[in-house]
Amino acid sequence: MTRILHRSIGPTLPHAASAQGVYITDTNGRQYLDASGGAAVTSVGHAHPEVLAAMRAQIDNLCYAHTSFFTTDAAEALAEKLVDLAPEGLNYVYLVSGGSEAVEAALKMARQYFVEIGAPQRRHIIARRQSYHGNTIGALATGGNAMRRKQFQPILPETHHVSPCYAYRDKGADESPEAYAARLADELEAKILELGPEEVMAFVAEPVVGATLGAVASVADYFKRVRKICDKYGVLLILDEVMCGMGRTGTVFACEQDDVIPDIITIAKGLGGGYQPIGAVMLSEKIYDSFANGSGLFQHGHTYIGHPVAAATANKVVEIIARPETMANVNAMGAKLQSGLEAVLGASPHVGDIRGRGLFRGIEIVADRDTKTPFDPSRKIHAKIKRQAMARGLISYPMGGTIDGVHGDHILLAPPYIIAPHDVDLIIERLADAINAAIAE
Ligand SMILES: Cc1ncc(COP(=O)(O)O)c(C=O)c1O
Repeated sequence: MTRILHRSIGPTLPHAASAQGVYITDTNGRQYLDASGGAAVTSVGHAHPEVLAAMRAQIDNLCYAHTSFFTTDAAEALAEKLVDLAPEGLNYVYLVSGGSEAVEAALKMARQYFVEIGAPQRRHIIARRQSYHGNTIGALATGGNAMRRKQFQPILPETHHVSPCYAYRDKGADESPEAYAARLADELEAKILELGPEEVMAFVAEPVVGATLGAVASVADYFKRVRKICDKYGVLLILDEVMCGMGRTGTVFACEQDDVIPDIITIAKGLGGGYQPIGAVMLSEKIYDSFANGSGLFQHGHTYIGHPVAAATANKVVEIIARPETMANVNAMGAKLQSGLEAVLGASPHVGDIRGRGLFRGIEIVADRDTKTPFDPSRKIHAKIKRQAMARGLISYPMGGTIDGVHGDHILLAPPYIIAPHDVDLIIERLADAINAAIAE
């Protein structure tokens, strides 16, 4: 009996009782290896003593002060730290309570920017198919996953979508990565021209696509080309690093590896590391200045923005993430995870692609490796893998609809950054067993 409207009604969930490092223990004493950090949330591991101490210290001093009356040392220090670490020019921070809130705020910031600078006709949002930007109405409309949008379509604001950068399926066999990146950039430019360059507000993309594609990074100079096109038509570039940011891919900001600087960046998940609900939008000087020299405010706000306990927690989480030894472990264990998965699953007829950056890895499951044919969606291979993995004490993040919202299956792995080599081996062993068992079902 439960009084909670759970995500799915029916299946009984284990009750999580405690967690330590990369393991969660349920009330029956079963241990689960957290190979996906929940949904790429648990960045510095569970029960990190330094984070717990920072939370306790903040709780003893101040738990809440409304942001229309006060700022706090905790929020100011977090903003300062994020700006220090961010790509050049992203000099201001707006604190929220999660990823969807960050995306909503980013969209409104982009819109208000154009109102402030006297271009109120700019309103179109362009994003990519097979992307996920959150579940609130604006963020859901921005995301390009057909399945998630379907039943809400009639109440979603108008948005526009172009192709993702998904080389495994969409790059021609004889096409170079550069030519593929150029083709996609041309498609974006054509979409801007079709909508009217004076009316396009922003292009939104995840540097490494997480939930809906399974750790798919761009190829060649894709994002540099995107940046150039945005600049050519005065369109703001919003990079959504809610899942791939905060050290997940081996650099504090994922876009560092694409050598591109957006106008706005959204972060969440790993920022709070699961300890507190927190997200943030980082914005460029020019956007901040347009507000400061214009209406003098950002016409937005929620009750819990800038929450001091969340900010103090994130401040410590970010400090740990940014330590050279943390990023070194993400890169070393990420490489180990990739090569281990390739060694054990690389020759499987049902593993089409193993990909990703840092501790953000994706495995695309196929019915036929040579033709890349997916399994029939009715087999729900992704759900079976999730169940089989849980039965083996492994938390992973499988998802269906990889190709078009309906067809395709992938598994996302995103373990905590403090993972040790023997636990990486255990992930590979348990996952390989789970995949085989799911396909045999
Ligand atoms: C890229 C991206 N943006 C936004 C969100 C929404 O974040 P939240 O679930 O914290 O609202 C997610 C969540 O998975 C995400 O992966």
